[in-house]
Amino acid sequence: MKKILFDHYKDFLPVNSSTPMVSLGEGFTPLVKSLNFSEKYDCELYFKLEGCNPSGSFKDRGMFLAVAKALEKKKSKIICASTGNTSASAAAYGARYNLQTIVIIPSGKIAVGKLLQAMAYGAQIVSIKGNFDQALEAVKQISDSMDFEIVNSINPFRLEGQKTGSFEIVDELNQSPDYQFMPVGNAGNISSYFMGYKMYLERKKIKDIPTFFGIQAENSAPLVDGKIIENPSTLATAIRIGNPASSDLAKEAVNETQGEFLKVSDEEIISAQSLIAKHEGIFCEPASAASFAGLLKKINNGLDVKNKKIVCILTGNGLKDPENAQKYLKSKIIKTSSNSESIKKAIISGSSTNIFKRMF
Ligand code: F0G
Repeated sequence: MKKILFDHYKDFLPVNSSTPMVSLGEGFTPLVKSLNFSEKYDCELYFKLEGCNPSGSFKDRGMFLAVAKALEKKKSKIICASTGNTSASAAAYGARYNLQTIVIIPSGKIAVGKLLQAMAYGAQIVSIKGNFDQALEAVKQISDSMDFEIVNSINPFRLEGQKTGSFEIVDELNQSPDYQFMPVGNAGNISSYFMGYKMYLERKKIKDIPTFFGIQAENSAPLVDGKIIENPSTLATAIRIGNPASSDLAKEAVNETQGEFLKVSDEEIISAQSLIAKHEGIFCEPASAASFAGLLKKINNGLDVKNKKIVCILTGNGLKDPENAQKYLKSKIIKTSSNSESIKKAIISGSSTNIFKRMF
């Protein structure tokens, strides 16, 4: 039987006997060791596959708890602003636990797979002429008067639940990694990993906390630029956010661990997404690939990674964003007849060599 976050980490979560057990099978996602890039850079690199969560992103780790606490408070309606994944996750848990779910999304700026998820799970979808920051502002303004439970990461239980990602990494590595690279949008996830490591390492009597690298997209990088970005833009729509709600804790995470916020271009994001897919067999969405793009940038700028344990959090599944994949990751399809000779010719004419020579 798969372990259940709610039960397994109960001692570290704000649950009590009146908190209903909520689960869709979230968490305990694979921590996959990179074969080709570990060897290339002489380090121990891991990818945490958060796209393996039930709605395809890390949001489920926080959503199970936010929904459990909403049920504990006898709420019947949940609401969120979202760049896509929060809405998919809220809609999934809302459907399962009979909650009315309202999602507010920026028009035209959410990946089609995420929108379809919210629709399939039966959420009420409101699309606004505006960006995520404006959607979140609206959610804050209307939720009280309409008795909605906000399930964005400004809900403290979301961060409490998302801490479990760090617990799993420590349990699996038996220590904390040297470096952790992760995408940053509203800055909730980096904050929750920071809280999680601190709490878990103390209990486990492990001293070292990883150095946090928070990666933002070039034109949506308020934490790198040190100012609110009014009109953020990036093809990694999940992190198209100009005014992160959890900035303070995120800054603490980076400062306290001597880490850094850095920004990567859309080209670097797509290149990283393609590299992870083509050389590790892992298809993550563009925002998630920002973590690896950040690592590559740091390596190019001289970060010492030799023998270091490094984790890149791959926050969401690549299938959520087929439009960007169509545009940037497409490869040639060779068309031919069903005749075996012509199929053979097609294979030979289309074969290419891998940049990695490692044999297994
Ligand atoms: N990666 C993915 C795939 C995301 O969907 C998000 C955020 C992030 C990274 C950044 O995490 O906001 O905690 O810093 N998505 C939110 C949403 C904003 O609405 O789905 P963060």
